Amino acid sequence: MIPSFKFSTLPVIHFGAGKRSILPGIAREYGSGVLILTGSSSIHNAGHGEEILNGLKQADINLTHELVAREPSPELVDEIVSRYRHSGIEVVVAVGGGSVMDAGKAVSALLLVEYGIKRYLEDIGDLKHPGSKVPFIAMPTTSGTGSEMTKNAVISEVGEAGFKKSLRHDHFIPDHAIIDPEMMISCSDRLTATSGMDAFSQLLESYVSTQSNPFTDALALQGLKQIKKHLLRAYLEGDQNLEARAGMAIAAMFSGITLTNAGLGLVHGFASPLGGYYEIPHGAVCGALLAPVFSMTIDKLIDQKDNPAYKKLVIASKVFSDFKYKEETEYLMAFKEKLDHISKMLELPKLSEFGLNETALEKVIKNTSHKLHPVTFSGDELYRILSSAIG
Ligand SMILES: [Fe+2]
Repeated sequence: MIPSFKFSTLPVIHFGAGKRSILPGIAREYGSGVLILTGSSSIHNAGHGEEILNGLKQADINLTHELVAREPSPELVDEIVSRYRHSGIEVVVAVGGGSVMDAGKAVSALLLVEYGIKRYLEDIGDLKHPGSKVPFIAMPTTSGTGSEMTKNAVISEVGEAGFKKSLRHDHFIPDHAIIDPEMMISCSDRLTATSGMDAFSQLLESYVSTQSNPFTDALALQGLKQIKKHLLRAYLEGDQNLEARAGMAIAAMFSGITLTNAGLGLVHGFASPLGGYYEIPHGAVCGALLAPVFSMTIDKLIDQKDNPAYKKLVIASKVFSDFKYKEETEYLMAFKEKLDHISKMLELPKLSEFGLNETALEKVIKNTSHKLHPVTFSGDELYRILSSAIG
């Protein structure tokens, strides 16, 4: 029986090599007051920074430019908003990775309301955001978070009492997403690997989520096929392989749609407290945890064959299999090995690189949610998973 479901709206999607050239025309449709947010280096590394900024200026646009150098904090968002709240910004544009797009999404959502962002954050704030915003255009330069498709901006305050929480509203889905694989060609190896593992985690988690539906299943499975075909290629030869960059851009885009509509699982459940307590890039958390989380998930599901996620993991295992096997369990075991293999090939960082050690695990686990993961783990099992990702 197909479950009842709701599917959120999508941005207008402009996909293809060279699509960055349409940005000035689209921005101009909203007016001449444009605030652009970029990463400190991503837009310029791509060699397209000047081209994009000059293109906007030549379109009779009054351009203001802010840099976002790290995952956005409440202070960063509030500071930018306080500078532009009454200065006639008619559209916000974000060109960068997930951090830049989330910062842009949050700024566009805060320009028309009265208070600072903390008051509107999920689980933390005391106010419900009314959904009013300045139009927002997202142009990713990495393939990972899928923020160009999502209705939430992730905001982090790092420290002892740190958090990683979302500003979320259906209206925050970007108005336009311009996805140009040429913008990702010069993405660094490390960022290609970690952001790719974020997209991979989002696709696999939403595929087996307890709230998945036929719509998200179709996209998640197609996204996983792109990951299988293109993730290692994008890492190994991404500076010249536009096809691999395009495949990963599609995978990331689909992952944003599926996470919005089907939710996520335990990898992202761990990511919230870890990203609050430590300066760990989100993709690095996903990279370190995807293999151990799904290895233990497979072990559990082998004893729960009537769980709908069991069949789905068999299907995903077949997507990633290089061989034909007789038994479903052989595919599942091969998938566990494949996840380890991909993690090794990508030379992913272990979490100890960012200061995580055994003494902190209890606190992280206490604040970890399973989200919509199809199986549940005991405290001891969560400890074992996290421990194996420390290195
Ligand atoms: Fe993610």
